Amino acid sequence: MSSKNNLVMRAETALGAEVQLAARARHVLRQNDMGDWTCAAPNLYPHQWSWDSAFITIGLAHLSTRRAAKELLALFGHQWGTGKVPHIVFNSEAPPDSYFPGPEHWACAAASPDAPPAPPYTSCLCQPPVHAIAALRVWEVAERNGGEGVDEARAFLRQIYPKLLLWHGYLMTHRDPEGSGLVTIYHPWESGTDNSPRWDAALAAVEVGDLPSYPRYDLRHVANPSERPTSADYDRYIWLVKLIKKASCDETNIYRSHPFLVKDILFSAILVAANEALLKIAALVEAQDGDYTLIANWIARGHRGLDGSWDPELGLCLNYDLRAGTPLRALTVAGFAPLIAGRQSPERLEALIAALESSAFLGHPWLRWPVPPSTSPLQVGFHPRSYWRGPTWPVINWLLWWSLLRAGEPERAQRLRQASLQQLAFGGFGEYFDPFTGELLGANDQSWTAAVALDWLVADDLLIAA
Ligand code: DGY
Repeated sequence: MSSKNNLVMRAETALGAEVQLAARARHVLRQNDMGDWTCAAPNLYPHQWSWDSAFITIGLAHLSTRRAAKELLALFGHQWGTGKVPHIVFNSEAPPDSYFPGPEHWACAAASPDAPPAPPYTSCLCQPPVHAIAALRVWEVAERNGGEGVDEARAFLRQIYPKLLLWHGYLMTHRDPEGSGLVTIYHPWESGTDNSPRWDAALAAVEVGDLPSYPRYDLRHVANPSERPTSADYDRYIWLVKLIKKASCDETNIYRSHPFLVKDILFSAILVAANEALLKIAALVEAQDGDYTLIANWIARGHRGLDGSWDPELGLCLNYDLRAGTPLRALTVAGFAPLIAGRQSPERLEALIAALESSAFLGHPWLRWPVPPSTSPLQVGFHPRSYWRGPTWPVINWLLWWSLLRAGEPERAQRLRQASLQQLAFGGFGEYFDPFTGELLGANDQSWTAAVALDWLVADDLLIAA
């Protein structure tokens, strides 16, 4: 056979594999569809999670504009009076022993004057604000596809814009009373990267008091307990929830007395990128004049905050422990925050790419595929199978891919996309993966993994403006 035929055959096989993968991703999203929201994963996560829903919206945008819009509108239907978007909206139909801490544990949050009407109950924590990025993606996909989706997407942007503005306003005020440009979190769950070593020092300082015994339903759904946070971690998580409830979920009370107050750079960087998206949405919905200046100021403040967290020696940003008054030194993917925030200087971009491609991340010789481990194998506390202490997470890889495109690095972005897809074709739509063996860990059929895979596969040619 001629080498030309050989090449054509290989290209056809690769295309066939991508078509199959996209079909499987669509199937996962349909299977987890609850009507106007999507459960994060069938067994382990039977409720609606905030940042999961945002990533899921990005995937749904390729199935139906209307359904994608519903996903975010359903979540924002439970927005608190302060503008906060809760990290979990509890599914009233889920079996009572399916998740802990479930709705009954959070029920007291509903007593807060700022809480939305219950049921359904919500938690009073929040998660990284990927939502405006997702809303803009719904528009971009609809506009590219043309047809009736364009009008639906425009109507959706009009509905969601004031809610997004309120949400970002909450984060820029209640979660940054210092005006630092960085978001304060009250609980590792708010970071979305629960047991990352970046929280180890701040958590170690939290003294756990009297705690009644509680169930670990999460352990029933994984092959091995080492894939989930340890019981020492969990005690601290549950203790922090207890303290937040004791403070009546009131921001001022929490800020005054809470033992875990940390500036999270990944959360803050996502907020900068989300504010960039919000600025574009503001123009699309012809927002009032004052909004543009307000959002532009938020963006500038966010960049200043991240600049102040830069560690030139590591070539990464560091989180900051407000209680101890010290930076939290850890080699994790969160350190790439300025890449995600966007608009970095050429020198900063060069340093970030050097760190990304170093043996601490993509250049590590033991990696099964060149996709970044959530925690560097060179970091003390790294564990290849334990949740955020080493496994690679497809949604983080999507964020980095999207950020590389925006930074004008299409070849690097494409390499990351290909490696990520190879991993999913090999392992399935897992929640996270062992970076050395490629083994699927955590939940199967995780909705946000299927969603980002679909975006990689279908939106390959979508132009992402810097
Ligand atoms: C969990 O249960 O693992 C979540 O991360 C908390 O939101």
